[in-house]
Amino acid sequence: MTYRKDRSGDPGLADATRGRILFGGDYNPEQWPEETWHEDVRLMREAGVNSVTLGVFSWAKLEPEPGAREFGWLDRLMDLMHTNGVGVVLATPTSSPPPWLGRLHPDTLPRDENGRVEWWGGRQHFSHSSATYRRYAAAIAEDLAARYGGHPALTMWHINNEYCTADHGDEAAAAFRRWLRTRYGTLDALNTAWGTAFWSQGYDSWDGILPPRTPHYMKNPAQVLDFRRFTSDALLECYVAERDIVARHTPHVPVTTNFMPLFFGQDAWRWAEEEDVVSVDLYPDPRDPLGPQHGALIQDLTRSQARGPWMLMEQAAGPVNWRGVNHPKPRGLNRLWSLQAVARGADAVCYFQWRQSRQGAEKFHSGMVPHAGERGRTFQEVKQLGAELAAIGGEVTGRHIGADIAILHDWHAWWAAAQDGRPSAQVDHSAVLHAWHRALWEAHLTADFAHPEHDLAGYRLVVVPQLYTMTDAAIDNLLAYVRTGGVLVSGFLTGVADQDDRVRPGGMDPRLRELFGIHVLHEWWPLDEGETVDCDGFRGTLWSEEIEAEEGVAQSAYQGGELDGLPAVLRRDRAWYVSTLPEPDALRGLLTRIAAGAGVHPVLDGLPDRVEAVRRGDLLFLLNHGREPVTVDVPGAHTDLLTGDKAAERVTLGRYGVAVLRP
Ligand code: GLA
Repeated sequence: MTYRKDRSGDPGLADATRGRILFGGDYNPEQWPEETWHEDVRLMREAGVNSVTLGVFSWAKLEPEPGAREFGWLDRLMDLMHTNGVGVVLATPTSSPPPWLGRLHPDTLPRDENGRVEWWGGRQHFSHSSATYRRYAAAIAEDLAARYGGHPALTMWHINNEYCTADHGDEAAAAFRRWLRTRYGTLDALNTAWGTAFWSQGYDSWDGILPPRTPHYMKNPAQVLDFRRFTSDALLECYVAERDIVARHTPHVPVTTNFMPLFFGQDAWRWAEEEDVVSVDLYPDPRDPLGPQHGALIQDLTRSQARGPWMLMEQAAGPVNWRGVNHPKPRGLNRLWSLQAVARGADAVCYFQWRQSRQGAEKFHSGMVPHAGERGRTFQEVKQLGAELAAIGGEVTGRHIGADIAILHDWHAWWAAAQDGRPSAQVDHSAVLHAWHRALWEAHLTADFAHPEHDLAGYRLVVVPQLYTMTDAAIDNLLAYVRTGGVLVSGFLTGVADQDDRVRPGGMDPRLRELFGIHVLHEWWPLDEGETVDCDGFRGTLWSEEIEAEEGVAQSAYQGGELDGLPAVLRRDRAWYVSTLPEPDALRGLLTRIAAGAGVHPVLDGLPDRVEAVRRGDLLFLLNHGREPVTVDVPGAHTDLLTGDKAAERVTLGRYGVAVLRP
């Protein structure tokens, strides 16, 4: 698979921002009488809204019966937005088909692994593989593009919404077989890749191959892995089909589809290559002490997928309504997290949704205009933020963030690692990724993400939290990176299996073992939940390993217990291997030292805890994630773009305070 497609020549986010930060959100006017639309635009102007996403859930309104078209209401809205200076990100409504589609064409409905139909009455009840669904989706996309492609309000296309559905039905099964034929060519090759000699699973006919429907006992992991790959590709085909339709009408208008944050079901590296604008929806829990770290991870990942500025398509101005307990955002937090996104590369700060619904499944999900109306604190804070983003937009948009560190992540490795029958169900790829990113974040070290086969030459330090599967190309890439002077640090369960989830000789690829100085990897010793293992100078969690290391590579050893005296952290020249998950402070300390050795230093020295610092171009963003005011030493004289104040040497940040400093 090739990554880093050359997108020069295609439209991009800059075509929509034109030097402003896009500010606004999903607007669902079909839920409201037309009088409210006029109230909406008045408030949008007050809040500095310059962008709305229309039509995400409008299919039943646009096509109330098969083949009908009701565009009049949307015509009026497009005009209304344009007259009021609000650009429109126009969605194809294909994530929530009207009930008639499922009723008249049950083949459009997806089935879960038990064969149960996912009915209409919610949303996303479409089968990616249904020819009927694809035909109706293409037709409505075509007609929307034909009608609005030339409308002056149109700034961007938004295809579908949070693509996420799997399908185990018969049409999907046929599509899966076609996908497998393309991948393997012959049944022999498939049987070999899937290891079907185990448990008498050898296939004698393509027709015998099914999606991984519920069996009596554990599933074939290679089959599950390929089904995840197929599902991501099948959804991507749906996206590409609609993208190509709208792009044919409007080659100059950028196209996006919104990712869920670190969503398991999509190979987002692959998807991002097909987007003009990479956008994401992000909802950290306001109560989660690690909310800012999670936000930063998603922002860094999205920026890396975009290879530059990206779009925060949806966030919540207040509470969401899909957690067990849904906490509002305390005063100032919406502003802080919005500016955090800008600091980490967002050129668009948008919400789900403009006006809080009064009906439907999400009526208790906040909006920019809450049930409390314009006098509500949420709207007042939105208004303040809109004014601030307008003030700094010209200085910020288009600027890049330089990072010397790359964290490697690969969905295929995650999919392969997330199956039954593993050494420990406690080990979760996403949690491990979060732990390593958090350590860098807390050390004030800015990191990009990269795919293991990306060109890593521009980075001084490459961090591999965990890549359970690695292709030969990825291994070669890492070896070449270290050989040519790069510093590498890897966590456990890396390079264990190949792309078919076949364990590599010796339990870890021999080339990697040699790189790290691992002579024999005898056994893994996973830890129970909450259990720790003592090592020289720190405690490990989650995992430990019985390693026989080459002479002189052990940096730290296990203490006590069965592994007493055996190496815990190894280093051979520029390659480090960490065989446990050190507790957060220890991992931060270790990465700080390794980074310093690689010539990578924190954004600023001596930053107080909970203060995040990011450089975007020559701007320095300082973000106080704490509720207490703090003072930060900043060398040199600066102007704070948010206040216009000149600051020399010291900046004070109030509760959830932010400064955007220009030298
Ligand atoms: C995502 C979806 C929206 C809405 C919100 C709720 O962002 O795209 O349609 O469901 O979640 O948080």
